[in-house]
Amino acid sequence: MKLCMIGTGYVGLVSGVCFSDLGNEVICVDKDEEKIKLLKKGVIPIYEPGLSELVIKNYKNKRLSFSSDLRTSVNKSDIIFICVGTPTIKGGSSADLSQIYKVAKEVSTSINKFKIIITKSTVPVTTGDEIEKILSKKNNKNKFAVVSNPEFLREGEAIRDFTYPDRIIIGSNEKKSNRILKNLYSPLISKGALYVNTSRRAAELIKYASNAFLATKITFINELANLCEKTAINIEDISIGMGLDKRIGSRFLRAGPAYGGSCFPKDTKAIISTADKFKTNLSVIKSVVKSNEKRSNILLERVYKILKKKIKNKKITFLGVTFKANTDDMRDSSSLQMIPILSKKGAKIKYFDPTGYKKEFKNIKNVSYENSIKKSLQGSDLVIIHTEWNDFKSLNFKKFVKGKKFIIFDLRNIYSSSKIKTQGFKYFSIGR
Ligand code: UDX
Repeated sequence: MKLCMIGTGYVGLVSGVCFSDLGNEVICVDKDEEKIKLLKKGVIPIYEPGLSELVIKNYKNKRLSFSSDLRTSVNKSDIIFICVGTPTIKGGSSADLSQIYKVAKEVSTSINKFKIIITKSTVPVTTGDEIEKILSKKNNKNKFAVVSNPEFLREGEAIRDFTYPDRIIIGSNEKKSNRILKNLYSPLISKGALYVNTSRRAAELIKYASNAFLATKITFINELANLCEKTAINIEDISIGMGLDKRIGSRFLRAGPAYGGSCFPKDTKAIISTADKFKTNLSVIKSVVKSNEKRSNILLERVYKILKKKIKNKKITFLGVTFKANTDDMRDSSSLQMIPILSKKGAKIKYFDPTGYKKEFKNIKNVSYENSIKKSLQGSDLVIIHTEWNDFKSLNFKKFVKGKKFIIFDLRNIYSSSKIKTQGFKYFSIGR
């Protein structure tokens, strides 16, 4: 099939490349010409394990191409995926849909034969209806179908998540599109993915509801971790004990810092805003957002307690600063809240991240990047394990100590408290 992916961010690039790997002809379009030039040379704008190899393979065998010419690319394709960003609107909480509607207008002038226009970006309920209105202005209704097909891939696991999804959601009541899309996804369906056909609005809401539910699960376990800290209970026993109930499930019950990334913070706010628009109060999700916003402060309070309220001139190391492992993404990472506050209080901060220097800390006083774990740990008073990179999972901390031992605050519960303590380190973790 001939596909056109508009937008080469996480969703567009990963899905485009994976679709081409399944044998389709895919054009990935982006208005950023520089990005397109680099992609043609095999330079990938994002850090995603395995992606570069797939891009090069499929570009060489000519199933995958890149272009900044939207109109021609749409013209040549049968199925158009809109994969542009839907960030939180400036100064508000709803999703900014300007890029979606701009693309829809451009697509509306390039429909030369029947095309399926799909939103893969996360879009609020009724966005599909709006896109349909835009397309109808320039085209007869039998020339196109607007479908919602949300993508559930996680950064760092994107190729696996695309290839082995739990479910494929197709929001459309239109028979022809359903048949074509079931065929497009048949290689994944035959590997066990469930194909679910819903109304377009339901598909739009499923994406937000899923992200909001996962964010709720994390926030729930984070709050219970606070209770466990006060009652000498190990939060991991709680996660295991609860997770074994099949109605609950064990995933996304890892306590840690505030959830971050490009989706959960943005999508929880956007679903609340959509519900407000329809005069519906999503009070559970509202308190999840509030609780998560307070999470970094709670962890900072623990840092102050660990350092006996003497923060000035304390040398603090952050191991990992991205919002999670296997990504270079800093969006809404809890380190962006914690590091500036510690710096303001006079701490001297060094950080190491496997994905390198971060421009986000450039203008923050007393924050420096070190290019090795060893250098970042030298002379430290407190080491905060912020991100669960494999690189940090089996460190022999004793090797890094010269003189006084540093304290360790493990925000991801990577280490066993008893083992680290027998090595003579003061060790703190989350909910245990
Ligand atoms: C998420 C959704 O999982 C994905 O389906 C959607 O398409 C995009 O948003 P992503 O943002 O890549 O994916 O990361 P995810 O692995 O879901 O983690 C999100 C945040 O939750 C991270 O900050 C992570 O550290 C945190 N998290 C996750 C926990 O704190 N505990 C957990 O048990 C799981």
